[in-house]
Amino acid sequence: MSASIRFLMCSPDHYDVDYVINPWMEGNIHKSSRDRAVEQWQRLFHLLKERVIVDLVTPQKGVPDMVFTANAGLVLGDNVVLSRFYHKERQGEEPFFKQWFEQQGYTVHELPQDLPFEGAGDALLDREGRWLWAGYGFRSELDSHPYLAKWLDIEVLSLRLMDERFYHLDTCFCPLTDGYLLYYPPAFDAYSNRLIEMRVAPEKRIAVGEADAVNFACNAVNVDRTVVMNQASNDLKRRLAEAGFEVLETPLTEFLKAGGAAKCLTLRVTEPIQPEVHAAAAVESRTIRLEGHLIDSGVMNRTLDAVVEGGGSFQILNFQLGVQRQSTSVAEVKVTAPSHDVMEKIMSQLIDIGAVRLPQELSDAQLEPIVQAGVAPDDFYVTTIYPTEVRVNSQWLRVQNQRMDGAIAISQTSNGTVARCKLLRDLEIGEDVVVGIDGIRTVRKPELREQRNTQQEFSFMGAGVSSERRVELVVEQIAWELRKIRDQGGKVVVVAGPVVIHTGGGNHLSQLIREGYVQALLGGNAIAVHDIEQSLMGTSLGMDMKRGVSVRGGHRHHLKAINLIRRCGSIGHAVEQGALTSGIFYECIQHRVPFSLAGSIRDDGPLPDTKMDLIEAQADYARLIEGADLILMLSSMLHSIGTGNMTPAGVKMVCVDINPAVVTKLSDRGSVESVGVVTDVGLFLSLLVQQLSQLTSRYQLTQTV
Ligand code: ARG
Repeated sequence: MSASIRFLMCSPDHYDVDYVINPWMEGNIHKSSRDRAVEQWQRLFHLLKERVIVDLVTPQKGVPDMVFTANAGLVLGDNVVLSRFYHKERQGEEPFFKQWFEQQGYTVHELPQDLPFEGAGDALLDREGRWLWAGYGFRSELDSHPYLAKWLDIEVLSLRLMDERFYHLDTCFCPLTDGYLLYYPPAFDAYSNRLIEMRVAPEKRIAVGEADAVNFACNAVNVDRTVVMNQASNDLKRRLAEAGFEVLETPLTEFLKAGGAAKCLTLRVTEPIQPEVHAAAAVESRTIRLEGHLIDSGVMNRTLDAVVEGGGSFQILNFQLGVQRQSTSVAEVKVTAPSHDVMEKIMSQLIDIGAVRLPQELSDAQLEPIVQAGVAPDDFYVTTIYPTEVRVNSQWLRVQNQRMDGAIAISQTSNGTVARCKLLRDLEIGEDVVVGIDGIRTVRKPELREQRNTQQEFSFMGAGVSSERRVELVVEQIAWELRKIRDQGGKVVVVAGPVVIHTGGGNHLSQLIREGYVQALLGGNAIAVHDIEQSLMGTSLGMDMKRGVSVRGGHRHHLKAINLIRRCGSIGHAVEQGALTSGIFYECIQHRVPFSLAGSIRDDGPLPDTKMDLIEAQADYARLIEGADLILMLSSMLHSIGTGNMTPAGVKMVCVDINPAVVTKLSDRGSVESVGVVTDVGLFLSLLVQQLSQLTSRYQLTQTV
């Protein structure tokens, strides 16, 4: 027996399952047998007493879970951090444990109110005393970890629990003598698993399967080379034996009904201090400020979800609710993350949502020079579609040429310092690039409710995708929008695939161009080829467009079309020479609507107009969408997504495709301005043209009245 090791236990005089605060308790209210519980507890008590000194704390009525002394607090040397229970059902235990520790002469540290921490249930010392593993996610708050580091002067490694069955760290994680670790990896998130793997060598990690985990095999009491637990599979016993451990099984089924077993029923109150070990907590905190219609726009929810889902935690320091319909709210939120890496990931999402740092926490953006043309430094900030500003020399600079998936390049020009959004390939030596997450903010103007409503009206399926039934309604709105843009001299860009021709939409699109509704057309080789084939031969890929049957030898038609244009030199020349007299591209030439055709590996020909250099094609697209008010994407996944990638927030996008996946992908950019319509594009265009002419006749009517 090791005279220097002491454990604290509490006899189960008042033990029962009286409430449900973890999944194990569900369905077990008053289902445990007191007699059997007492017998099982006694056996554990005697097993331990043969090896260590066991102290007892007096059980109390009304706090049935007090048997689980692991949750009394966390002891290291003479210091104890008292638990602050998450659930009110257990908070009544706190004064009794506090009294016991004080009587024993410990220095008792108490966490601030409302900062839950459940003692040694969620904090386990490495058995060599090198550091403290601390769990969070269910019962203990991440923000408690820096206090542990400070008060106990030890390095704290934060582990995030993900499976509610393993709500306390000690239910799925058990450091053993000599640096071994018994644990159930799926109970942790990926980051925590990586951390464990970094600290514990592979030969020291004893991972258990689910069957052992649910028998609470990890909820074990380790004294030297002995491990006491409820139950272990033969395989686990063998593996522990190979590592030099003797397993003592002692049934604790009555306590499993409350979600605890051997380890939970004990608290080691003698934990030697390693003199060379000192405080360190990787936990980082930052305070962010949010302003806007935080509640009704869902920004608050999104922010808090991003923090928690990203592995962090939060505390709302201040919330000023805008009480009038039009007034905005302001929130200050303290964000905590287990490490710098996790903080960076969370913060970059919060920046996209529109969060800004508090003025006193603000710093300039971190810059790193380009050392290889076309290559950004690691950790460069990846841009979004939202207007962005960066702080350089204490000044906020608006980033020019905003688009997603770029880097922010800072350069000195005759006009001073300029921040520009650039694609990786365009980065040049001599420029600096923004890295990390400091000094970056996205500008989300808090629109008035009224404005928001009109926008929502337009994007009434912004979040989802319309069904056939609603198509007519959407088309009516799009027609109205097109009309408005045309009348105001705005810009509409159409992106179209060959399906427009196959589904009989060619004439309608031609009409839109003729009537001035389209200011630029983007596509690939195919739409032009099929449009020209139809115009010359009445077929689209050999199908007779009037009769809907294939024409003998029709499969050659599109090549003849290509050949003709090649002979003329370009589509424009073909129109000039009178060889092409109708169709979408004919109308473009006639009405000086610029178009750009981006090539691909499957192109036949190609037409002389098709740009086979894709970098050039991307630049050409980008030029044509500049200043667009609306982009109408018609059944071309490739070109629509390509265009979407270049488009900043604020440009309305309408995506029409029979394939809901394409529509979702495009309307899912997190921008309220995109509308998805799942329908046949030919049908869509015919409805659109019809609606527009109705608008016109209504308009003429009001003019004459
Ligand atoms: N019913 C108790 C609770 O949910 C069980 C505590 C188990 N203790 C532990 N250290 N895992 O709080």
